[in-house]
Amino acid sequence: MKLNIAVLPGDGIGPEISAQGVEVMSAVCKKFGHEVHYEYALCGADAIDKVGDPFPEETYKICKEADAVLFSAVGDPKFDNDPTAKVRPEQGLLAMRKKLGLFANIRPVQTFKCLLHKSPLRADLVDGADFLCIRELTGGMYFGEKYQDNDKAYDTNMYTRPEIERILKVGFEYAMKRKKHLTVVDKANVLASSRLWRQIAQEMAPSYPEVQTDYMYVDNAAMRMIQEPRFFDVMVTENTFGDILTDEGSCISGSMGLLPSASTGESTPVFEPIHGSWPQAKGLNIANPLAQILSVAMLFEHFGCKAEGALIRKAVDASLDANVRTPEIQVEGGAKYGTKEVGAWIVNYINK
Ligand code: IPM
Ligand code: MN
Repeated sequence: MKLNIAVLPGDGIGPEISAQGVEVMSAVCKKFGHEVHYEYALCGADAIDKVGDPFPEETYKICKEADAVLFSAVGDPKFDNDPTAKVRPEQGLLAMRKKLGLFANIRPVQTFKCLLHKSPLRADLVDGADFLCIRELTGGMYFGEKYQDNDKAYDTNMYTRPEIERILKVGFEYAMKRKKHLTVVDKANVLASSRLWRQIAQEMAPSYPEVQTDYMYVDNAAMRMIQEPRFFDVMVTENTFGDILTDEGSCISGSMGLLPSASTGESTPVFEPIHGSWPQAKGLNIANPLAQILSVAMLFEHFGCKAEGALIRKAVDASLDANVRTPEIQVEGGAKYGTKEVGAWIVNYINK
């Protein structure tokens, strides 16, 4: 296979984890005889500083023409506490999602046996938890009409039938490939938009007779996720609920640095860690590269390259078992490994 990859390292720890993702990708391509070409592009605060736009037209063009985007992270504290800032790094991410039509964000929540003790939840509760959160990514409050003056502000949570149908279809299809259990998460007791989601889900469910479909209010789902995370197989929800629930989900595994994601839709798919740019750690070689490396596994799997994805997952498991871990998940007294060293160990494992 020939792969053209747009690489968007972004801000904070982004460039450091990006480099490890690229190294792993190259090693896998070499091993399996794929040809890979990388095109680097600016985004986030880095792009604002350099060209005044968090998702420049040039970056859009590079993404559009690529087979996949390997994205890292955006965000810089200098924009966070300035409500008057006209342009923010996060707008780059939102622009990328919208312009590439990435309406389906797939965020797997998984645990690693040897890291169960790192979870703030009891190990016996999280052991074996393994579910997918499918988050709608280009609609809802994020993109609905907004207004703000000194005395009043609002965001509009609008969804149209086609937007709801296409994301629910993704949910049903993933459920069919997994344990055939779909949970539609909404707030239909209060929100009109949620009632339409639920109505459409009920219309579609008979077309997937093998899937057990249940409906859960988002407040209840937030509770159930920590009380009984094994309950879930596939959950599907709107943009804002999905944003909140997936941060909660990342805690189940014990470190935000472990979870990858895929965003797919109308154009080039994007693969990225679910964590942010962790600006305080920038340049310190302490960020966990595994979420980025597992994003590369998801990228291969997206193109049907199962063996490639499986090898990356095996290498990641082996690194954890060998205690080759970044500080936040290292065992007490364990050796110190940085971002680069973990990446290099995994590359070496792949090359063997
Ligand atoms: C995420 C992030 C983004 C979001 C931010 C950075 C705009 O939190 O990908 O979950 O809210 O979608
Ligand atoms: Mn988020």
